[in-house]
Amino acid sequence: MAKVTGLEGVVAAETDIGLVDGERGHLIYRGYWAKDLAVNYSFEEAAHLLWYGSLPDGRELAALQTRLRESRKLPEQVRLLLDALPKTLPMMGVLQAVVASLATEEEAVWPPKVSQAERLTALLIAIIAYRHRSLQGLAPIDPDPELDHAANYLYMLTGERPNPDHAKALTAYLILGMEHGMNASTFSGRVTLSTQSDLFAAVSAAIGTMKGPLHGGAPSEVIAMLEEIGTKDRAEAWMRNVLENGGRLMGFGHRIYKTKDPRAEALRIVTERLTGGDPSFELALHVEETAIRLLAEYKPGRRLYTNVEFFAAAVMMAIKLPTELFTPTFTAARTVGWTAHMLEQAGINRIFRPQSTYTGRMPVFGD
Ligand SMILES: CC(C)(COP(=O)(O)OP(=O)(O)OC[C@H]1O[C@@H](n2cnc3c(N)ncnc32)[C@H](O)[C@@H]1OP(=O)(O)O)[C@@H](O)C(=O)NCCC(=O)NCCS
Repeated sequence: MAKVTGLEGVVAAETDIGLVDGERGHLIYRGYWAKDLAVNYSFEEAAHLLWYGSLPDGRELAALQTRLRESRKLPEQVRLLLDALPKTLPMMGVLQAVVASLATEEEAVWPPKVSQAERLTALLIAIIAYRHRSLQGLAPIDPDPELDHAANYLYMLTGERPNPDHAKALTAYLILGMEHGMNASTFSGRVTLSTQSDLFAAVSAAIGTMKGPLHGGAPSEVIAMLEEIGTKDRAEAWMRNVLENGGRLMGFGHRIYKTKDPRAEALRIVTERLTGGDPSFELALHVEETAIRLLAEYKPGRRLYTNVEFFAAAVMMAIKLPTELFTPTFTAARTVGWTAHMLEQAGINRIFRPQSTYTGRMPVFGD
């Protein structure tokens, strides 16, 4: 029998939350195209869709906005813990520890509640902003009740009310990052929850899984590549050199998508609106076009196209988000999808318990 490694092709659960179709380039959240949600809806509306199964009406949206607003202020014990953690602990470790600490006796209940998912989602951006500023010796910024989720994140990081176009671009990125089927972190969160552990422990486990470089994404490597290329006229020679030496072009190729990554397509539209005509965006577009041509030449038949990281990098550059916040920001987005999956898992729960094939030595029986 052929060896299956990494559970590739194995169906681990049924879900109503998201469909990833890599052959067709489809990403669907509960019946809606993720790319349409990203371009035309707010973070709050998309989160409501994933948690509750439908887009909110006006009243539901206002109520969700109020609940998120009320949860965004950091509780005192969270501040104390953040201040006590070593400065050398990277942000993903900080998030894992602080999220796990929220599972007090009162909160560590079964089944998990959607109100916990909402509170955690609202808190995460405040935790990231607080920690980021404190490492720079800057005072924390309280959330602004008039701003929505994405705008508040930028506001709490910088202390300045963000340019609405920047908040819109970040919103699109956050929506596209919310959900992506049975990826490693979602699976790990569902496995933890399936033991009837609490939502905070399950999100903490998912964060630990997201932290690894094979999952958490590296738009910073795309930025490094664009910076090294520098100008359009250098792009082709630079990329030929990488490919001739067996290297990989960052931001291209995907394990699942064998056609255009729909998230890259949506982010291209958003970035174009944000920075259209800007030389760095023109360079990104030129690099993309050249890379796809060269990948078809050097790797025929491998179906290598632009992935989400390429345009995520363009958005991050445009809104000036520091590179060390890329994976934490992705985490803040994916928390919505993780928690939707955990609530779904709780509703149909059976503990995950796969088997392994023993390949070790056997004891010697008798003579
Ligand atoms: C994302 C990625 C790991 C998916 O890999 P995968 O589906 O396992 O594909 P493989 O690693 O098996 O690659 C298949 C072939 O395409 C080539 N290939 C894949 N992505 C490539 C890239 N970005 N640049 C150059 N060649 C690439 C591989 O070298 C391999 O060639 P070979 O058949 O001659 O050995 C891979 O495309 C990659 O490394 N991309 C660059 C990093 C990146 O953008 N990461 C962010 C992902 S969201």
